[in-house]
Amino acid sequence: MSQVTVNTPGGSYAVIYRRGALARLGALLTGLRDSTGVYVISSPRVWKHWGRKMMRGLGAMAPAAPLLFDDRESRKDLRSVEQLCGKLIRAGADRRALIVGVGGGVVGDVAGFVAASYLRGVRIVHVPTTLVAQIDSAIGGKTGVNLPDGKNLVGAFYQPRLVAADPRVLDTLPPREFRSGIYEVIKYAVLGDPELFLFLEERRMLEGLVARAPAVLDWVIPRCIAAKARIVSKDERESGLREVLNLGHTFGHALEAATGYKRFLHGEAVGWGLIAAAQTAAWLRKLSIEEAIRIELLVREVGTLPPVPKMSHARLLRFLRADKKVRDGKLRFVLPRAIGRVEVCGDVNEGEACELLRMLARDRA
Ligand SMILES: NC(=O)c1ccc[n+]([C@@H]2O[C@H](COP(=O)([O-])OP(=O)(O)OC[C@H]3O[C@@H](n4cnc5c(N)ncnc54)[C@H](O)[C@@H]3O)[C@@H](O)[C@H]2O)c1
Ligand SMILES: [Zn+2]
Repeated sequence: MSQVTVNTPGGSYAVIYRRGALARLGALLTGLRDSTGVYVISSPRVWKHWGRKMMRGLGAMAPAAPLLFDDRESRKDLRSVEQLCGKLIRAGADRRALIVGVGGGVVGDVAGFVAASYLRGVRIVHVPTTLVAQIDSAIGGKTGVNLPDGKNLVGAFYQPRLVAADPRVLDTLPPREFRSGIYEVIKYAVLGDPELFLFLEERRMLEGLVARAPAVLDWVIPRCIAAKARIVSKDERESGLREVLNLGHTFGHALEAATGYKRFLHGEAVGWGLIAAAQTAAWLRKLSIEEAIRIELLVREVGTLPPVPKMSHARLLRFLRADKKVRDGKLRFVLPRAIGRVEVCGDVNEGEACELLRMLARDRA
């Protein structure tokens, strides 16, 4: 078991990582017993696997039924928020209601935004059920939904009261979804944890992670949680330090958008983004070629990434520029200076960035 505290102006809370946390959820929520009712938001898919365990774990705090919504990325929208808020009203949820969000990043982002806006804010606890959600999206208070115009365009910073991660729930995650989360693990290693990088470079350890070996999960996940907690505690609203979490994401988001969010899972696009960031950094002589190669090899070692399709310069540039991390029209990249150290670089030449992506398109993982 591990526990870290996130301290932000928007609230302080514990992130608990524990085998069996689901079965003890009711006990973990003792500090929130003054709530007038518990409302579980989840998805049919997650609920099918973990609903019964979850209800048993909540014990006396369990509601009669969960509020389920379709957690496809295409339903991470205002319509889902509206429907869930309607269900809360009809179920009689008042200002002292407690929402428990059980699912991956989509459930967490939607449930978090519902909690932030329903009656101008009710309490929420996150129970993340994907690798991405456990190491990243459930921590830090970013919530929100997509618009037809783009991803995560409506949302709020809204901190939960508790995050309870149980690695056992990862057992039922489809292999591709799980692997996709490993690219985010590599992101943490490159941006600030050389020891984690060395660990993953050991073939046996990476294989253990891919196979979800408990001992490996129990070492890797708490380390990533601690990193995320440290970073968001220093910078809740992404005015500075939190930007380093975007390592691999400028290219990654452009690739996701340019392929209509269909070809890549988010983490897979980040995998390509990490390769691109390493190559760009080496090209700009900010990172040694040896380290750039090590980053690329580790990413490729996780598995075969869906190939980057051929695209025109103009199309790529459009999506690179559309990323909301672009400031004053200049491309901003988080680039590795060494394995374990990154810097934000605000003057990457657009032509070079495109050329690199086009090189990746010729490449096959
Ligand atoms: N708020 C943040 O800081 C933040 C950070 C990273 C990502 N995100 C968002 O998170 C979303 C991606 O989240 P994700 O990668 O967790 O995927 P996801 O929420 O889309 O879940 C992936 C699939 O796995 C299923 N699933 C979830 N848990 C399962 C389990 N234990 N067993 C079996 N199936 C399970 C889901 O039903 C879904 O079909 C994106 O919308 C992204 O924008 C947010
Ligand atoms: Zn990500």
